[in-house]
Amino acid sequence: MKLLLSEKEVQKKVEALAGKISQDFLGKEILLVGVLKGAFIFMADLARQMTIPVKMDFVRLASYGTGIRSSGKVKFTKDLETPLRGQNVIVVEDIIDTGITLKHLSQCLKARRPRSLKVVALLDKPGRREVNFHADYVGFRIDDHFVVGYGLDCAEEYRNLRGIYVLK
Ligand code: IMP
Ligand code: MG
Repeated sequence: MKLLLSEKEVQKKVEALAGKISQDFLGKEILLVGVLKGAFIFMADLARQMTIPVKMDFVRLASYGTGIRSSGKVKFTKDLETPLRGQNVIVVEDIIDTGITLKHLSQCLKARRPRSLKVVALLDKPGRREVNFHADYVGFRIDDHFVVGYGLDCAEEYRNLRGIYVLK
């Protein structure tokens, strides 16, 4: 395993993202929607750096490479518990790879008529994109490596690492 982003670099970036989002939504309340499981640590840190009121909810989607890809639709294994109508929603994701997950998830959530819908992703691998998708807020653009740590796993391992590592 090789260190790609240190704990300090990650924390600095999360703080900057939270600052930017707080500024963009000044005077408003937002609902953070975390995509389980990968985003849980990023979401916890992001939420605690926000300077505006936030509510939180989570979705869990059918695992990578299965339901979503074959059906072309998002398959929720855990749906939101909060109605989205009239809310400023920010989807919080760990990493964008092919873009398939977030493209379909945001289409699906938009259909629920939130006031606004934005996406924040800590990591982005633009070189791997299979569908056209751009997040509104991106922490780091990285090369095409499989990474673990800070919520990201390989077969459920390494999520608790404080930095982000390339798996060799
Ligand atoms: P997408 O639909 O291909 O954009 O899938 C994104 C999802 O795949 C992320 O939410 C992760 O769960 C997973 N994923 C993609 N790349 C990595 C990686 O490098 N490490 C760990 N998980 C990844
Ligand atoms: Mg994920």
